[in-house]
Amino acid sequence: MDRRHELYCQREEISAEPFPGQCLRTFLRGLGFFGVKKGCDQGDCGACTVHIDGKPSICLTPAFRAAGTRSLPSRGWCATASCTPVQQAFLDAQAFQCGFCAAGMIMTAATFDAQAREDLPRLLKGNLCRCTGYHSIDDALHGVVNARRT
Ligand code: FES
Ligand code: FES
Repeated sequence: MDRRHELYCQREEISAEPFPGQCLRTFLRGLGFFGVKKGCDQGDCGACTVHIDGKPSICLTPAFRAAGTRSLPSRGWCATASCTPVQQAFLDAQAFQCGFCAAGMIMTAATFDAQAREDLPRLLKGNLCRCTGYHSIDDALHGVVNARRT
């Protein structure tokens, strides 16, 4: 049986075979997408969040389930000129302390519309901030600027 795994990842078509039982995070990192964060490794923290066909998904997702999908790993932090709007909002609000949660928070938050932003405690429940920096994350998602631009 051909178990090669084809998916579109950051606009590239990837064709590779995951190991039996391999999770999507390990599979993507093995392909060089190091923006996929390795956090708790247990499905608890959400730091590893990627998008599968536009929906947030975490590390324990079996790699084979993403076959044929459009998967988008986090790019992590960015040069200001190429930030996505959500990344820029996190920078403007200084919505991170240690940064452990930031990539996953940004990936999850990038799927929110204005209505979802009013329900953050529920919709961000899969993303844990161990520094408890939720106030500034809420600021970021409501357009509050806590940092002065230079
Ligand atoms: Fe995936 Fe924590 S590393 S949920
Ligand atoms: Fe440290 Fe969120 S900023 S875990």
